[in-house]
Amino acid sequence: MTTGTALTEAELTLRPWEDGDADALTALLADEEIRRWTSHRVHDRGDALRWLANEHAGRATGARLGFALVADGQLAEHVVLKRPGGGGGVGEVGYWAGAPARGRGLATRAVTLLSAWAFDPGGELALTRLELVHNAGNPASCRVAEKAGYRLETLLPPRPPHPREAHLHALTRPS
Ligand SMILES: CC(C)(COP(=O)(O)OP(=O)(O)OC[C@H]1O[C@@H](n2cnc3c(N)ncnc32)[C@H](O)[C@@H]1OP(=O)(O)O)[C@@H](O)C(=O)NCCC(=O)NCCS
Repeated sequence: MTTGTALTEAELTLRPWEDGDADALTALLADEEIRRWTSHRVHDRGDALRWLANEHAGRATGARLGFALVADGQLAEHVVLKRPGGGGGVGEVGYWAGAPARGRGLATRAVTLLSAWAFDPGGELALTRLELVHNAGNPASCRVAEKAGYRLETLLPPRPPHPREAHLHALTRPS
C-alpha cells in the first residue's frame, strides 16, 4: 500500500526511504539528541540497512509509513505515520531531524504536510484523528507539535516505548 507515494510542498519533499539512503542515514543518526529522545540506534551501514528494511516492511503492511524529508536536495529529516493495526481512522505521527537541519521549521512543515495528506477525505487513508506522543521533557518536540496544530490533551504515565512521562497531543480532521 502507498508504495512510491511522495508528498511535496515548495522545495520540500517527503518520499519513501530507499536503500540508497543508507550512508546518509548513518550520518544523520550519529547524533546524541536523537539517541537521547528516540529509540533509533544506527551505528554503521549494516544497522542502517536493517533500519531501512524495517521501514520497507512497515510500508508493505501499511502499519508504518516513513518518509525521508529532502529539502534543497539534502536528505535532512524523518517523519512517520504509524498505524499499528494497519486500519481504522486513527494514526500516530513521529519525527526526528538531523542536526544540520534543525531550527529551520522543517519538522513542522513535514508534520503539517503529512497530516493534510493523511486526513484528505478523498485520499487513500482519510484518517479522522492523528496523535503525537513525545517525552514530556522534550521542549523542541512539544513546540513542533504545537506549531503543527496538535493540541496537548493529556500527560501519559511512563509505558513502553516511552520510559518517562509523555505528552499526548492530537489533531482531528478539519471539517
Ligand atoms: C524535535 C525536532 C524533530 C525538531 O526539528 P526541527 O526541524 O528543528 O523543528 P522546527 O524547526 O520545525 O521547530 C523547532 C522548534 O523547537 C524550538 N526549540 C528547539 N529547541 C528547544 C528547546 N531546547 N527548548 C524550547 N524550544 C526549543 C525551536 O525554537 C522551534 O520553535 P520556534 O519556531 O517557535 O522557534 C529535532 O529537534 C530533533 O530531531 N530532535 C532530536 C530527536 C527528537 O527529539 N525527536 C522527536 C521525538 S518525539
